[in-house]
Amino acid sequence: MISRETIDEVRSRLDIVDVIGDFVSLKRSGQNYKALSPFTNEKTASFYVVPGKGIFKDFSSGKGGDSITFVMEHEGMSYVEAIRYLAKKYGVDLKEDQRSPEEQFQQSDRDRLYALMNYAKDYYKESLMESEEGRSIGLSYFRERGFHDRTIEKFELGYTLNEWDHLSKKALGIGYSEELLEKAGLIIRKDGGRFYDRFRGRVIFPVHNLSGKVIAFGARILTKEKDQPKYINSPETEIYHKSNVLYGMYQAKNAIRREDFCYIVEGYTDVISMHQADVDNVVASSGTAFTEEQIKLIRRFTENVTVLFDGDAAGIKAALRGIDLVLKGGLNVRVVLLPDGDDPDSFSKKMGSTEFKTYLKEHTKDFISFKIDLLAEESGHDPIKKAEAIREIVTSISLIPDPIKRSVYIQETGQLLKIQESVLLTELNKILIGDRQKQQQDKSRNENRMPIPDILPEVATSSKLDTSGIVQMQERESIRLLLNYAELAYDDQRLIDFMLAELEDVEFMNPVYKEIYMTFREGAERGEVCDPLYFMEHGSQEARNMVAELTTARYETSKAWSEEYQIFFPHEREILRDMAYTNVLRLKFRLIQKLIEENLQQMKKATREEDIEKYFTIHEQLKGGEKDLADILGIVVAKW
Ligand code: CTP
Ligand code: MN
Repeated sequence: MISRETIDEVRSRLDIVDVIGDFVSLKRSGQNYKALSPFTNEKTASFYVVPGKGIFKDFSSGKGGDSITFVMEHEGMSYVEAIRYLAKKYGVDLKEDQRSPEEQFQQSDRDRLYALMNYAKDYYKESLMESEEGRSIGLSYFRERGFHDRTIEKFELGYTLNEWDHLSKKALGIGYSEELLEKAGLIIRKDGGRFYDRFRGRVIFPVHNLSGKVIAFGARILTKEKDQPKYINSPETEIYHKSNVLYGMYQAKNAIRREDFCYIVEGYTDVISMHQADVDNVVASSGTAFTEEQIKLIRRFTENVTVLFDGDAAGIKAALRGIDLVLKGGLNVRVVLLPDGDDPDSFSKKMGSTEFKTYLKEHTKDFISFKIDLLAEESGHDPIKKAEAIREIVTSISLIPDPIKRSVYIQETGQLLKIQESVLLTELNKILIGDRQKQQQDKSRNENRMPIPDILPEVATSSKLDTSGIVQMQERESIRLLLNYAELAYDDQRLIDFMLAELEDVEFMNPVYKEIYMTFREGAERGEVCDPLYFMEHGSQEARNMVAELTTARYETSKAWSEEYQIFFPHEREILRDMAYTNVLRLKFRLIQKLIEENLQQMKKATREEDIEKYFTIHEQLKGGEKDLADILGIVVAKW
């Protein structure tokens, strides 16, 4: 039982920003704090902490409450466990009576697992330091590797005796059940029902969760037995999901937040050696490919990662591929290449702390630049290889979710490879549009619908490019839709009403399209919907030609196709809403770009400080709008 007074004492010391800050990187926003939801996969922050009220609200998952609720939700703890955790954090003495068996019984499964894992960890630590075998084998191994006692304590390293059931016997002796030991992955059951300890005669690396609880173990062999794996790791359990965990995160999180970036290495020993070299912002991927959950975990603390590579060529190639998912996860990636044959562990020891840190600083490269250098070197002057290299780089860039970053990288790639930016943009947009079509297709396949045909022109956009051709294609598309489907209605709204309302501010560039569009607009003001015949009677010669061209069924081909190849094409009507929507967005996008251009002209002319300020504000707002639209459309835009 925890006494009422203790609970009150803990409550009185709680600082919600500090409590949640241990798990989530909070950014100040006025009086409150904001972050990406730790409960969902959201891309824009909708997790709020209100320190004045001591509460949090997560709009993305709907969860909310006080510090204690947060710890319970986030760590999957019971109320009592959460109080215990917070009491420890704030140094409140838990005047807890010996827990009655009844209360032990009431512990949740998870709590019992945590308790057992903690017991095992303490037992392994003790075996390392106190037993003859542990000291002579385990401890001397760590010492040989140069681990200080301080480090051994920080990572709670341990040793497990080379016996079949040493740990399980002890744990059973103090009342843990066989069933729980099995659930914790600490024993392995043989066919006959007999069991033995999973980890035997190995050094132990405990894996901690964000609140410092042990959730798994990695156990390294010390002998050279060929048929034994080098590491034996805990299996998945109720409290350990390998794909959600990065080794070292608990020990690294504060440093990661402070430095605002995170080193990524391969192994347990790399993490530990880097700490010894005084580099604390480091986690290990444990030798496997990254998962989305792991990326999300990093994103809670920083958006920047620096991957350390061993310098051998095969290793680099493999690692490059692994990084794609990290880029896709929206993280900024940098890399450090270590000399051939060295890993962070060996290299940091060779160099010593100061030199190692200097090396890291001086050899950190942006990932894309790194890839460009690497591929450029590899492909030399071979044009085919170079084209392949460019495609590979642009593919990497296409994975970056942020259009602004993509455009910066495209610029850089153009400069480094001496290729016109517009060529790269075309290539990039091809990939982006292809990806989106594929997504669309997957989606419509799931919905048992035919894919939307590609009616959109490929868009290569850059402020430097002449965009008028593209704008006119979109103008043409909107006119075509109006001419063919003006009165078609969705949800009680006719296409013409939708288009005219949405295109209110858009001025058409092409005089013929403009004439037709204005005719529609004027007609609508009289309450009429102009049809093709109306244009034949009232339009200019150019308008009449255009109307004729745009109203002859462009999708006739589909019919021939469907008969010949037995493919069913949806009639254009069925996908009209999507088409009209995209078209409108694209035209608005152009409008915004035009406004940006005009505003910039004004700004250049302005002389008064406050005018410049005003244009600047407008610029930022417009750029924000441009980015939103670009995000929806997947178009690359220049940052400024
Ligand atoms: N690993 C594993 N199982 C293995 C081999 C490796 O789980 N059989 C994982 C471990 O997480 C390990 C990482 O892959 O930390 C990197 O492997 P390696 O470089 O071989 O291990 P280190 O931890 O660096 O160990 P050491 O330096 O002692 O060789
Ligand atoms: Mn190693």
